[in-house]
Amino acid sequence: MQRSKIAGIGYYVPKNVFTNEDLKKYMDTSDEWIQERTGIKERHYADRTGETTTTMGVEAAKIAIERAGITPQEIDFIIFATLSPDYYFPGCGVLLQRALKMKEIGALDVRNQCSGFLYALSVADQFIKTGMYKNILVVGSEKHSFGLDFSTRGRNISVIFGDGAGAVVLQPTNALASSGKEQGILSTHLHSDGESAEILAMYNPGTHANHWQPEPFATFDKAEIGQMFMSHAMIDYAQNFPNMDGPAVFKKAIIKMPEVVEEALLANGLTTANIDLLIPHQANLRIAQFVQRKLNLRDDQVYNNIQKYGNTTAASIPIALCEAWEEGKIKEGDVVCLTAFGSGFTWAGAIIRW
Ligand code: UT7
Repeated sequence: MQRSKIAGIGYYVPKNVFTNEDLKKYMDTSDEWIQERTGIKERHYADRTGETTTTMGVEAAKIAIERAGITPQEIDFIIFATLSPDYYFPGCGVLLQRALKMKEIGALDVRNQCSGFLYALSVADQFIKTGMYKNILVVGSEKHSFGLDFSTRGRNISVIFGDGAGAVVLQPTNALASSGKEQGILSTHLHSDGESAEILAMYNPGTHANHWQPEPFATFDKAEIGQMFMSHAMIDYAQNFPNMDGPAVFKKAIIKMPEVVEEALLANGLTTANIDLLIPHQANLRIAQFVQRKLNLRDDQVYNNIQKYGNTTAASIPIALCEAWEEGKIKEGDVVCLTAFGSGFTWAGAIIRW
């Protein structure tokens, strides 16, 4: 059966490094608290005006496309995952298509937050398997620094996130690794549970005004109609920033991430002993360590880089995958396992034989 392989991979992080000490200028926090609770030492922030989610995605894509040995004009489909798009609409996919002067190909935007890259990879994988497309560009990119509350009020969220982008080019393959086993993406596994959608969410701007809404908007009267999508009050009450019940997300993540890894292994007749490298979504080093312990994996079987980049949401897996590959930690024939969990909740897993 025809499968898809990662033919090229690239990542881009902005030059501007923001340490935990730098954050102390804006909020009541400490390097000790951030490192102990999250493992993060520093993160990169995009240039305020010169860089966007799309421009970072473009930089990562250029590297992935070159490494795949093709040109942007040979890409026949784009999938762009982000929660921090340049515009509310249109999505970043078309902006990337324009920036790279690509043909008039399809461009799909995926909004699955931390598991966005794995959802995008899964969609691309299906298109390759059916023979619909031959060169699909999958991008995960985030410019979080533009939408965080840097006052003490927002410190539980703002210290975690960083900016960056990662990209892969998927192509069809029938190749076997030197072990004689099938190469490429072996399977992807997608899940959701919307029961707790609001505990990790950015409520505004949005169209929920007449449905679920946090105080104080429940008290808005009809005279406000027409101003509900974006109002001065939303800004005054800091409703335009993300909200998160961190401990609740943490508890669910450490159950669902190992669970989907087990599901993916089982689907391929593999066990944790077969994993050469697990790349968990870089949400929090403590979450990754819980996942590692639960799966009984050695340190050399797990790759983390959250210490340098923070949580880059849809970009975290492709950045880590690319960095691990560049460091020689992924070799031909290796079984690479990817897992993510985040807002929605959505979670996902994938197994690749490199
Ligand atoms: O990728 C997207 C999915 N998101 C996640 O996976 C995040 C999952 N959750 C987490 O990573 C953790 O819950 C956090 C890192 C967000 C928070 O760590 P925690 O150990 O769960 O801390 P907490 O929220 O229970 O807060 C403990 C204390 C509180 O103070 P009190 O009430 O005990 O006095 C917070 O106000 O830490 C305080 N706190 C801070 N202190 C210094 C919260 N944020 C900070 C901060 N600096 N940045």
